[in-house]
Amino acid sequence: MHKGLKTILTIIGARPQWMKAAALSRVLSDTQWGIKERVLHTGQHYSHDMAGRFLSELDLPKADHLLNVSQDPAERMGQMMGGIMHAIEQDQPDAVILYGDTDSTLAGAWAASRCGVPVVHIEAGLRSFDRSMPEEINRILTDQLSSLLFCPSNAAVDQLTREGIVTGQRPELRVEVSGDLMLDTARHHGSEPLPLPADADAVLLTMHRPANVDDPHRLRGWIEAIGTQASKRGWRVIFPVHPRTAKNLVIAYGPDWKNADAFDSFELHAPAGYLDMLKWLGEVRQVWTDSGGLQKEAFFMHRPAVVLRDATEWVELTDLGFACLCAEPMALDACVETMEEMPPAHWDKDLYGTGKAGVAIAKTLRSWLNR
Ligand code: UD1
Repeated sequence: MHKGLKTILTIIGARPQWMKAAALSRVLSDTQWGIKERVLHTGQHYSHDMAGRFLSELDLPKADHLLNVSQDPAERMGQMMGGIMHAIEQDQPDAVILYGDTDSTLAGAWAASRCGVPVVHIEAGLRSFDRSMPEEINRILTDQLSSLLFCPSNAAVDQLTREGIVTGQRPELRVEVSGDLMLDTARHHGSEPLPLPADADAVLLTMHRPANVDDPHRLRGWIEAIGTQASKRGWRVIFPVHPRTAKNLVIAYGPDWKNADAFDSFELHAPAGYLDMLKWLGEVRQVWTDSGGLQKEAFFMHRPAVVLRDATEWVELTDLGFACLCAEPMALDACVETMEEMPPAHWDKDLYGTGKAGVAIAKTLRSWLNR
């Protein structure tokens, strides 16, 4: 549609995608790349706390297509696929750009493949090897359907190699390490790692994975362990509560859950914006989280992470001791103590690049689109 330009259609829709897409959109807005970006927002996340606030805070381009989808995962998958196919028909893009591992990502991969449009996957090659997670299925399928794959780390390239996804395996197939766009975004917003304040007495907690929060018994187990471990050390738990978790806390503790004794050491917040999270990362001793992105943001800000899961796709962090896996509430004490007694050193490792992933991706994308 834009003579002389290549057109890409970027698909975004869920909270973890805003930080990644913002970094590349900023780079591609420079006309030197000859790439016109169109944006489709699937509507997977729709509220101010989960979507609107990030879009303005991170200055993401306004969506050219906005879908309105159900919250039921099966229904919304079909609606997203249909909506994306329709947008592809209108925009006639040269490629579709996808981020990460959400249902919006997989919907984009499926729709583009059905329309014969090449798929570009950013954050390719990650695996937790836990197929009970929808994200793991989304990653595997999206990587299989992609033609240009940008990996955040060398470990991710190695994983794709083990799966037979290597440059040249099909004529158009290309795999590359680009670094991590989340680092670009963090540095763009001025977050440089800060030394731990001498009086730091808080941890930052996020928890929203269905495996941790959907069963009230398990959720109570986590909350009680977290409260106990924090109060024993005289720490505050800064806890921005995800909407899924809030719904389940009502079931676990009743409508007045915020006043339950279990939350005495907690400082409760609505889901936080990006800049609030960066500010808290500078203030806390440790990060306790089941989020993939926050594990890395903790690393970018030189804070140890206790990962409230039995596996992570960010294997470098656990291999090198920047993060520690904590699969069960009863293991929390030991994980926290390990991080306090043997805090990670050598934070200066460039595990995810140097904050210039956007430019690296734009360069490759330009040459690949003009191949
Ligand atoms: C998705 C991603 C997951 C990501 C998570 C971050 C998939 C398979 N999962 O989960 O990888 O870590 O987002 O949040 O794609 N809600 C709101 N406002 C919104 C969106 C949701 O209140 O804008 C509520 C819903 O009503 C529901 C809950 O939050 O109660 C569901 O949210 P979430 O757990 O994020 O579900 P997914 O979108 O499936």
